[in-house]
Amino acid sequence: MTPNTKKIVVIGGTSGMGYAVAERAAKDGAHVVVASRDQERVDAAASRLPGTSEGRRIDVTDEASIAAFFAGLGEFDHLVHTAGDTLLLKGIEELTSAEARAAFEVRYWGAFLAVRHALPGIRPGGSIVLTSGVAATRPLPGSPIPASTTGAIESLTRALALDLAPRGIRVNAVRPGVVRTELWDGLVPEPETFFRSQGSALPAGRVGRPEDAAAAYLFLLDNPFATGTVLTLDGGGSIV
Ligand SMILES: NC(=O)c1ccc[n+]([C@@H]2O[C@H](COP(=O)([O-])OP(=O)(O)OC[C@H]3O[C@@H](n4cnc5c(N)ncnc54)[C@H](OP(=O)(O)O)[C@@H]3O)[C@@H](O)[C@H]2O)c1
Repeated sequence: MTPNTKKIVVIGGTSGMGYAVAERAAKDGAHVVVASRDQERVDAAASRLPGTSEGRRIDVTDEASIAAFFAGLGEFDHLVHTAGDTLLLKGIEELTSAEARAAFEVRYWGAFLAVRHALPGIRPGGSIVLTSGVAATRPLPGSPIPASTTGAIESLTRALALDLAPRGIRVNAVRPGVVRTELWDGLVPEPETFFRSQGSALPAGRVGRPEDAAAAYLFLLDNPFATGTVLTLDGGGSIV
């Protein structure tokens, strides 16, 4: 990233890809605000980051929490949204309506409402980077919900890129394949075995690292010609 004094807000920045974005941006001289639900995780992440970075609590399933977060933040340049809860991997007949609807709370409505409340604070020339996933275009069997939440984020990205262009704000998304993060703990029985088997099927020969993903987010955030872009970063998974 261009070394600068820009202010970057990373919701979901206490873990995984979001933390990697925060760490790289902070090393490059940005003032980073990492945010998530758990105050201990917020404090731990903020204390590991270099420079002037800070941590704040937000729960993107609670609009009052989102409003309070942005009201206390002042102006900033870029918003990155990587907040996500566990993946709901069930077929349409196994899902209850309640859990199917709830799966949109963090990933879709969380991003939507975060953008809405963030907008008054984003300086012209700034940008927003949301998070999709390869399920949007290459769903695995039994993933109607991940396919739908990621697809919805990609459509939202394109619509907002148009709507926010007159304000000088760019909107993009990263579409990651499997990335080695805490997301997979508890979701697959043996994450290391899962990463090895997924990685060996990819042209890249391995799954993604959080720092690979961070480079994609920061590319979109930095590049003044990138807007309405969904950047696939999947180790070549979409060509095999
Ligand atoms: N890793 C992959 O292979 C992969 C692939 C494709 C797409 N994705 C998507 O990319 C996003 C990030 O993934 P990751 O692997 O970096 O996940 P991760 O390591 O599990 O991090 C998720 C982050 O979201 C925060 N969070 C969860 N619920 C929240 C809420 N209600 N409000 C605010 N923050 C919340 C968590 O912190 P707290 O628990 O403290 O709130 C944490 O900081 C997710 O949406 C995921 O589905 C991941």
